[in-house]
Amino acid sequence: MPRHIAIVMDGNGRWARKRFLPRFAGHKSGLNATRDIVQACSDLGIEALTLFAFSSENWKRPKLEVRLLMDLFASSLQKEMSRLHENNVRIRFIGDLSAFSGKLQELIAESERQTAGNTGLELSIAVNYGGRWDIVNAVQQISSALVDGTISKEQIDTDLVSSYMSLSDLPDPDLFIRTGGEQRISNFLLWQLAYTELYFSDTLWPDFDKAELQQALEAFSKRQRRYGKTGDQVEGNELNA
Ligand code: IPE
Ligand code: IPE
Ligand code: MG
Repeated sequence: MPRHIAIVMDGNGRWARKRFLPRFAGHKSGLNATRDIVQACSDLGIEALTLFAFSSENWKRPKLEVRLLMDLFASSLQKEMSRLHENNVRIRFIGDLSAFSGKLQELIAESERQTAGNTGLELSIAVNYGGRWDIVNAVQQISSALVDGTISKEQIDTDLVSSYMSLSDLPDPDLFIRTGGEQRISNFLLWQLAYTELYFSDTLWPDFDKAELQQALEAFSKRQRRYGKTGDQVEGNELNA
């Protein structure tokens, strides 16, 4: 079982188009899939789930789509909060939140506050997030710490850099899932995915359900994670290790 699953929820627009519906209908339908997958992960006892909801590049979409996505984001946050809280889910948002309206930032902060004491699924939602932004943000903070003397150049190693990245308190994702058929990272967690198992599904996000999640988990269970070692070493075949 993976401890941490990261998902690029892609394919909402194509799901809508296939039905001659506006793209927004796909996003609304995608929200239902999100609710089910959060519930499924929570039921399965997965420790952490990180969802890519809006990338730093998604601002380039038509103004109307961006506005509708923001409205959906705000209204769903308000609607889903009590259920998430009841399910003991701890919620947080990663990304450059300063780009959002004051009202949305307040909702975000409130949902994080309300669920901060929960001990169930660690749900992270990436909004206005970019993996390169995350790295640049870490570099800026490390630079400040260097300048004010809190750390020295010699102290900079992978652990220290990790500690300045988003999700630094969680294990790196074990399993990355992207729906919608594209096989790319699209600037999601670049640093954190270094040794993550990648799984791509052709299913469009609104159609991704518990059974599809089970298939991904099944595929994951068959992977051998070698982290640079040989298969024999990982299997503990002493003669060849
Ligand atoms: C993913 O679905 C949701 C967001 C990026 C907000 P898309 O909207 O990218 O759906 P496609 O890729 O156009 O089908
Ligand atoms: C990635 O999907 C971002 C989210 C799912 C939020 P995109 O649809 O934006 O990715 P590209 O543009 O196809 O790479
Ligand atoms: Mg897409």
